[in-house]
Amino acid sequence: MSLTCQQISSILNTAPGLAVLNATHLSNGVVVDLPGLVPSCMVNGLSSTTTTNDLCRIIVNVTTSASSTNRIEAWLPDNWNGRFLATGNGGIGGCIDYANLQHGAGLGFATFGTNGGHDGQTGFEFFLNRPEDINDFGYRAIHAEAEAGKYIIEQYYGRKADYNYYSGCSTGGRQGFEEAILYPDDFHGILMGSMGVDWLHIVASKGILARRMGWPDLSSPKYITAAQWSAIVKAQIDLLDPLDGVTDGIIDDPTSHTIDPSIFGCGNDVLNSSLCLTDVQVQTVREIYEPLTNSEGDVVYPSFDLGADTSVFSANTKTVDGTTVPELTYTVLQDYWRGAVYNSSTWTPHNFTIADMDFAVNLNPGGINIAGGLSHNVSAYHFQGGKLLAYHGRADQTVTSAVSSRAFHRTAETLDLSLEQMHDFYRLFYVPGMGHCAGGVGAWSIGQPNVNRPPGEQFNNTDNNILLALVDWVEEGNAPQALVGTKFKGDRLGEEVEAQRTHCVYPSVSRWDGVGDAKKAESWRCELA
Ligand SMILES: *[C@@H]1O[C@H](CO)[C@@H](O)[C@H](O)[C@H]1NC(C)=O
Ligand SMILES: *[C@@H]1O[C@H](CO)[C@@H](O)[C@H](O)[C@H]1NC(C)=O
Ligand SMILES: *[C@@H]1O[C@H](CO)[C@@H](O)[C@H](O)[C@H]1NC(C)=O
Ligand SMILES: *[C@@H]1O[C@H](CO)[C@@H](O)[C@H](O)[C@H]1NC(C)=O
Ligand SMILES: *[C@@H]1O[C@H](CO)[C@@H](O)[C@H](O)[C@H]1NC(C)=O
Ligand SMILES: *[C@@H]1O[C@H](CO)[C@@H](O)[C@H](O)[C@H]1NC(C)=O
Repeated sequence: MSLTCQQISSILNTAPGLAVLNATHLSNGVVVDLPGLVPSCMVNGLSSTTTTNDLCRIIVNVTTSASSTNRIEAWLPDNWNGRFLATGNGGIGGCIDYANLQHGAGLGFATFGTNGGHDGQTGFEFFLNRPEDINDFGYRAIHAEAEAGKYIIEQYYGRKADYNYYSGCSTGGRQGFEEAILYPDDFHGILMGSMGVDWLHIVASKGILARRMGWPDLSSPKYITAAQWSAIVKAQIDLLDPLDGVTDGIIDDPTSHTIDPSIFGCGNDVLNSSLCLTDVQVQTVREIYEPLTNSEGDVVYPSFDLGADTSVFSANTKTVDGTTVPELTYTVLQDYWRGAVYNSSTWTPHNFTIADMDFAVNLNPGGINIAGGLSHNVSAYHFQGGKLLAYHGRADQTVTSAVSSRAFHRTAETLDLSLEQMHDFYRLFYVPGMGHCAGGVGAWSIGQPNVNRPPGEQFNNTDNNILLALVDWVEEGNAPQALVGTKFKGDRLGEEVEAQRTHCVYPSVSRWDGVGDAKKAESWRCELA
């Protein structure tokens, strides 16, 4: 017997560690106001969301320690497909992922979101002297969501879910991988986008790269302006894009190319006279595309991808009272080091060095760097048949794309598995021309959530939707062989299809067949690189 949405509160309130804030039945298409939403969690400034079917919406506090609670939101569809879907966070966390709630619930999953233990994705106060909130963000929030989610589903529907899934991108990808390492019983299938594993090195890299060009000294001879970076990246694409056979604005695999940056120097005609580089600046570009090493000289973060937008380090000034001052637009570094590493509300990354990176990595606040930093040991998850499905754009400006292949290979080493054995439980899809989690000039739409738009019949299948591909793998044993990515007009699901392309299981890559329409998926084949 299942309960009504109204009845559920009193039952859940008797469970230790749960406190219901609201439980309301909503019809399809209802606009849901989110009055308590902090500004940094308002996607495109919106403080409301829309349901994608008839469902029971439950908001609960979950106690995770004597001094911490997480807020979890459940969207429980009336026409439930029998599955649980937990979702993660982005960036520095702190926002319930409403786009994923809509997407999952729209497909019939009992879908959950979490604030990851704090509210807001900019700021540091939510971490400063709050070690348990640092722990939630580091290793615990998704486990708390999994446990509460399973309990709520059983109470509400009167039975357990048949299968338990997780989906997250960026920080959410890190959270998924960390679940597989620490809590292998939580999920049967884990979907990890642009996985931010070895998170501290990813975040630190923004500071290191900015410092490589003399920042915060904007008059340093090494400094390269944002306008110059745009021109450099455009030239990289112009030069490398045709080498993969199709001129489509996409560098299929930036890790397979190098460019001698001296071509960007003045007198080489690649950049015009107002943008071209001095010899010192040429050397800066050379250094920027070097991988990161720690103070012991070990490589700890792969090179920034050629052709990827450089804003994470090149957008590094702001205007205060008409004066330009150095400040990274990418806020996670300053916020996290202030709140969770140095416990200082005034610290800035202006003097950031490798020592600041290493200090954080050694501290490992809240176990944040377990996933893909300290560990790749998903052996228990593997042993019990769990599946890991990863995807990553090849033009990712925030998490350089080689992070995902590195995690794949290190997992293979840790578990001592061959490629074939790895493919039995862990598959990675690269998406050429996709930025961070979504967007870009490539045929990037593979079933990532799309705000306010359910996928519709044409796209809610295992070829077009990577979440449904994961379900098919877990439940039917059909491992995904290829995915069809779509470029929609205006990047809006449901609009006109401008191009499609086949995406392949790493290490295979998709190659144009040389004859067909390059905007059609069937003109692309998966081949070993
Ligand atoms: C839920 O948690 C928040 C943040 O810890 C707290 O301010 C609020 O009082 C809690 N509400 C209930 C009903 O427990
Ligand atoms: C150089 O190119 C930039 C960007 O296209 C343009 O704005 C600028 O006017 C050009 N400068 C010269 C000297 O041609
Ligand atoms: C900051 O606080 C954390 C506990 O939240 C502690 O582990 C760490 O050592 C502190 N860092 C510094 C630089 O004092
Ligand atoms: C950075 O280091 C320089 C030289 O050591 C020092 O003068 C400056 O105050 C530091 N800046 C910040 C923001 O800490
Ligand atoms: C991985 O974890 C398992 C327990 O789940 C343990 O038996 C094994 O020794 C670990 N492997 C490595 C390489 O640490
Ligand atoms: C896809 O959508 C159609 C029409 O809404 C529906 O009948 C079907 O069950 C959906 N399939 C999946 C896998 O959700």
